[in-house]
Formats: sequence, structure tokens, C-alpha cells
Amino acid sequence: MFSINNDKAVGKDLTKVNKIIFMCSGFTCNKKGGEENIVALRASIKENALEAEVHTIKTLCTGQCESGPTMLVHPDGVWYREMTVSRAERIVTSHVMQGQLLENILFNEGDDGMDPAEVTSSKPACN
Ligand code: FES
Repeated sequence: MFSINNDKAVGKDLTKVNKIIFMCSGFTCNKKGGEENIVALRASIKENALEAEVHTIKTLCTGQCESGPTMLVHPDGVWYREMTVSRAERIVTSHVMQGQLLENILFNEGDDGMDPAEVTSSKPACN
């Protein structure tokens, strides 16, 4: 076991983060309102004073354009599809705060369009 001296690290202190939400900001998702969803999700995190525990990261295409906009909650391994502003807010108030998944927009392996090989591909589907 070793410890890392991060005295020289800059940026947000991630030591208290317990969830990271990856938000697709690829071309196709943005055409379908992805950026508005991201703004709403981040606003909800702030309104609920969860900035220390929840970190957000914009991604490029996650290979699921047909079902986008997409978001992924890590380390829960939960994918959400067809995001909207209200759904983004509910990820915070239901999933993050109460541990309740938004069952109606879960994106499960085996669903139409969900191809794990495509998701892990180094070549995004659209950008
Ligand atoms: S642009 Fe979001 S999944 Fe492709």
C-alpha cells in the first residue's frame, strides 16, 4: 500500500466525491438538448449543496446517439437515456439523494442500441 502526496494537485478536491456523473455532450445529444440537461443537472447539484460529493464530467459521444441524450452515474454503473431537463434534475433528487433509480429511463445492457463493445470503442459513433 502506498499513499499519494497530492499537495501540488490543483482543481477541485475530489477526496469527498462518491458519485461521478458523466454527461454526454456529443454533437447528436447536444442537438437533442444535451447542454440544457447538463446545465440543469449542475444547477440541481448546487441547489442541493452536493458539490463536494458529486462530480460531473462532460464527455463526447458515448456511442448511444439514438437513445441520447445520455448520462452515466458512476460508480453505480447506471446509464440513463433520453434525458430531459426534468429527468436531469430527478437524477439528483431521486438517484443521488434517495438512491432511487429512474426506472423508466434506465439503459440496460441488452436494450436496443446498447452495445457495450461500442461504448468502450476508442472510436466514437458520431464525434
Ligand atoms: S452524441 Fe451522445 S451518445 Fe452520441
